[in-house]
Amino acid sequence: MANNMINVALPKGRLGEKVYGMFAAAGYECPSILEPNRKLIFENGATGVRYFWVKPSDVAIYVERGAADIGVAGKDILLEYMPEVYELLDLNVGRCRMAVAAMKAFRDNPERTLRVATKFTRIAREYYAGLGRDIDIIHLNGSIEIAPILGLSDVIVDIVETGKTLLENDLEPIETIVPISARLIANKVSFKFHGEQIEAICRGLAQQVKQ
Ligand code: PRP
Repeated sequence: MANNMINVALPKGRLGEKVYGMFAAAGYECPSILEPNRKLIFENGATGVRYFWVKPSDVAIYVERGAADIGVAGKDILLEYMPEVYELLDLNVGRCRMAVAAMKAFRDNPERTLRVATKFTRIAREYYAGLGRDIDIIHLNGSIEIAPILGLSDVIVDIVETGKTLLENDLEPIETIVPISARLIANKVSFKFHGEQIEAICRGLAQQVKQ
């Protein structure tokens, strides 16, 4: 692969399509990306950008290891995995929040260790450490909302977007831990060697950010 191209890891799915729209509006379009096929890599020699669709939670790994020069990752992933990357811009899309939720009938007993089910173990640990609260972390990979229903945990720490998943499972949010949105990130070495190109992309994207 030619190394004068900027490799961009985009999160596959609805958020990625929105983010690609921002890149396109900033002048980095790649029309072939819109063709209905299952290709994962698209490039446009004219703009010098090559896009990859990757699993959203993998974007930071591609960027940290330099397989992508830049990428777009959720703040949740950045807080959880703390990748060694530069965070350049808040794109203000993919907005949601990391929250604690529990069954509506749940009443906390501060004397007891709190059982917390989550995919985001670092975020949960740091949050409760800040409160000085003893917890027992139960690491799950998905469908976290089921844990309190079945008595596997007292609370969950998870992403809440519309709140519909909680509502439909008789859960309610108790606390917001941190607001989340998609961020433009860059590999540290790439930023040193392709700083101008990356900063030009960043400036173009900044103009597309809606507040
Ligand atoms: C997230 C999260 C919740 C849901 C919240 O799951 O884990 O289940 O979205 O959204 P809502 O507040 O709009 O209902 P996601 O669909 O990202 O997939 P996951 O199960 O892999 O976490």
